[in-house]
Amino acid sequence: MTAPADRIEKLREEIREHNHRYYVLDDPVISDVEYDELMRELIRLEAAHPDLVTPDSPTQKVGAAPIEEFGTVEHEVPMLSLGNLTSEAELREWEEQLRNHLKEPDLDIAYVIEPKLDGVAVAAIYEDGVYAVGATRGDGTRGEDITEQLKTVPSLPLRLRKSPARFEARGEAFIPIAGFAALNRRLSEAGEKTYANPRNLTSGSLKQKDPGATAERPLDVFFYSVGIVEGVGIGSQWELLETLAELGLRTSDLSVRCATIDEVAARLLELQEMRDDLPFEIDGAVIKVDDRALQDRLGERSRSPRWATAYKFAARQGTTKLEDILVSVGRTGALTPVGVLEPVPIGGVTVSRVTLHNKDEIERLGVRVGDTVLVQRAGDVIPKVVKVIEDRRTGKEREFTWPETCPECGTPVREDEEAVAIYCPNIACPA
Ligand code: IVH
Repeated sequence: MTAPADRIEKLREEIREHNHRYYVLDDPVISDVEYDELMRELIRLEAAHPDLVTPDSPTQKVGAAPIEEFGTVEHEVPMLSLGNLTSEAELREWEEQLRNHLKEPDLDIAYVIEPKLDGVAVAAIYEDGVYAVGATRGDGTRGEDITEQLKTVPSLPLRLRKSPARFEARGEAFIPIAGFAALNRRLSEAGEKTYANPRNLTSGSLKQKDPGATAERPLDVFFYSVGIVEGVGIGSQWELLETLAELGLRTSDLSVRCATIDEVAARLLELQEMRDDLPFEIDGAVIKVDDRALQDRLGERSRSPRWATAYKFAARQGTTKLEDILVSVGRTGALTPVGVLEPVPIGGVTVSRVTLHNKDEIERLGVRVGDTVLVQRAGDVIPKVVKVIEDRRTGKEREFTWPETCPECGTPVREDEEAVAIYCPNIACPA
């Protein structure tokens, strides 16, 4: 018979391996039922032998008590921010600046291009391979202690696959678009406040004082950088990404190495094309000089490295004034409210009309004519109002009233059974 301690260790190793395959590699080799059986056996054994429970056991992802106040974490290595570019011309200028700074006008520079995830920057510190501290970026020097909250993220390992003395992985926590939409729907149905975008939801989720509440949110994380590193040598950004993956940390498979700035420019276009089809929000790409020795020679200036920069895609959200609400009649007779906006550029297009869908949507948003609204436009989707900026109300806004007669044919309108749609009952209505 095997001793409980041996069986426990064996189970942990197995579960860690399956976690890694499932959450990091996206390539599970057992069914959920089989996985649950292993987990249940481990929970049962640990309950019978509480002295054998360790902080890096897969059972320890959730369960910490709510906190009163977030503590602070000093970043031993500052968490920098990035400068940004918005055009190919600026990209080429940036490379010229790098060469000038290095005083090597003909130098060939290789780069790593990564997606710029629109989430929350986090740091996860591992001591002897065991997860010890989690922190937000904060002001770059001091962040919030979110050790217990970050720990609940399924793809974050509690133990690395190797054990460097100290290793601080840095990356972006985020919530995929599908999880964001589902959660917002639930909040809206419960009459609670919804979130404007996945980034706000991610931030709100990591700042739950009850880690159990964070565990309920569909958080994920991609790593792309390091802070404190003791016991591992890293010669380039590409090698850094490989090291992160070898340690069992999740990295994005959209990152590529480019040998020239022409390749970089082509990759930026590719990423921009892919943007609407990705399961998570990216707001651009990050361009990093690959070679570590070159990075060191380039150094940093005012809180951002010279060797890396962001390439920003056009924003998909913008605020503007809702000047009026018009009513159009569809082919089915349903009256559809259309918002008339003070024109605003969003995602490279001027938006002056938004759909307000139906009666329910207007009530849910609580929108009034004259309100300042947050508008979103993604890909080919018709622009929509995400929320009303209530702080900007002046008192001059007015509630929208539905017309009593069809704007096309003058027939008195009716409300359908579920009181969602208002429609024109006239079969002969020209609309
Ligand atoms: S690197 C040393 N890489 O963008 C460079 N940042 O404006 C430090 N971000 O605070 C950042 N994806 O939250 C880097 N692949 C990526 C990123 C990324 C998103 C965010 C990060 C950072 C901000 C910089």
